[in-house]
Amino acid sequence: MSWLMWSYQLLCLQLVLLHSLSFANLCSHEQSSALLHFKQLFSFNQYSDYPSLCYTQLHYPKMKYWKDDTDCCSWDGVACDMVTGHVIGLDLSCSQLYGSIPSNSSLFLLSHLQKLNLASNDFNLSQISSDFVRFPSLTHLNLSSSNFYGQVPFEITHLSKLISLDLSGYHLTLETLFMKGLVHNLTGLEELVLENVNMSTVVSGYLTNLSSSLTLLSLKGCELQGSFPDNIFRLPSLHTLTLFSNNQLTGTFPKVNWSSPLSPGPDSIATISLHEVSLHLDIESPFLAALPGKLPSPSQLEPSSFGLKVPCFPIIHSSRANIESTF
Ligand SMILES: *[C@@H]1O[C@H](CO)[C@@H](O)[C@H](O)[C@H]1NC(C)=O
Ligand SMILES: *[C@@H]1O[C@H](CO)[C@@H](O)[C@H](O)[C@H]1NC(C)=O
Ligand SMILES: *[C@@H]1O[C@H](CO)[C@@H](O)[C@H](O)[C@H]1NC(C)=O
Ligand SMILES: *[C@@H]1O[C@H](CO)[C@@H](O)[C@H](O)[C@H]1NC(C)=O
Ligand SMILES: *[C@@H]1O[C@H](CO)[C@@H](O)[C@H](O)[C@H]1NC(C)=O
Ligand SMILES: *[C@@H]1O[C@H](CO)[C@@H](O)[C@H](O)[C@H]1NC(C)=O
Ligand SMILES: *[C@@H]1O[C@H](CO)[C@@H](O)[C@H](O)[C@H]1NC(C)=O
Repeated sequence: MSWLMWSYQLLCLQLVLLHSLSFANLCSHEQSSALLHFKQLFSFNQYSDYPSLCYTQLHYPKMKYWKDDTDCCSWDGVACDMVTGHVIGLDLSCSQLYGSIPSNSSLFLLSHLQKLNLASNDFNLSQISSDFVRFPSLTHLNLSSSNFYGQVPFEITHLSKLISLDLSGYHLTLETLFMKGLVHNLTGLEELVLENVNMSTVVSGYLTNLSSSLTLLSLKGCELQGSFPDNIFRLPSLHTLTLFSNNQLTGTFPKVNWSSPLSPGPDSIATISLHEVSLHLDIESPFLAALPGKLPSPSQLEPSSFGLKVPCFPIIHSSRANIESTF
């Protein structure tokens, strides 16, 4: 009898534990109210009842369904540390946000954020707030295609833990000072994507000494001028380099010491995109020497093609010893 009682009590205890586990809010009140206040900055129109097409996939406004009587850690786009309950990730990409993020926004109270993605929204040509510096633990920041305007604040370069930074957008500009800070402070950066950011005033020499951890560098359409530092080809982990649509940019492929993932080879998956960039190719460069078969003749060339998949070599304008190619 006492054994039965004992198992009954054990069962009750288990039920109570289970109950408290599933109903306890992992998310603190401060965090859920910060998120809900942030939500109030944006209007959702009647179209937000329908999913929208974003990067060829259907998306719906995640924030629209955030409800204040539920645990914010279960909300769409919100990720929490399961032990501390801190909000550490916020992915509101393609969420039909329309409005701006002022510096007193409650977003900046989420000081434990590690990953923040606000890509593909409409921030109404407002400036990027320098308050993004209030996320000292940030490793991933993605503000691409979100209709921000103006100078990228220098303070972003204080986010020294950044691994991935994507600021791609047509209305942003970036200065030499920013690149200087980035090179100095963002030493663990692996992905740097600045597509279509106006970098016309950046002294290209400041692109030297980028993080040696860099695997992906995209500077497409950045209006870069001057000579592209060839030591970028020697970054040890770089596998994708995109430079196309920088028609004022010149440079020379290095003869020796290519970064190993960019170097040609049977297993290479590297991509270099150089459409509308003037680079002088030295025929003796191991890059060309390692190419299988003979080089294509100019008649085989596809003028609009870009995206050089090593070891394929699509565009060459001359077959002299010093090939000058304008991709
Ligand atoms: C968008 O910007 C325009 C011009 O600055 C302003 O009049 C309008 O109120 C802004 N809209 C939102 C939703 O912030
Ligand atoms: C932020 O500042 C604006 C004025 O600049 C004010 O209208 C708004 O109430 C403030 N919001 C918060 C959350 O303090
Ligand atoms: C930034 O986010 C967009 C949309 O989710 C995505 O397509 C893009 O690849 C992201 N950038 C990086 C560097 O991950
Ligand atoms: C590097 O970041 C620190 C803050 O983390 C900042 O005080 C310093 O000014 C930055 N240095 C440069 C060169 O950007
Ligand atoms: C880029 O910035 C430069 C210098 O500020 C400016 O002259 C140029 O018009 C800008 N380019 C575009 C496409 O806005
Ligand atoms: C790059 O680093 C080298 C070696 O540390 C240094 O001599 C050079 O001045 C740096 N270049 C730039 C543009 O910071
Ligand atoms: C190429 O690498 C070798 C060995 O790491 C080094 O001794 C040499 O100075 C490098 N050459 C250039 C041009 O960087």
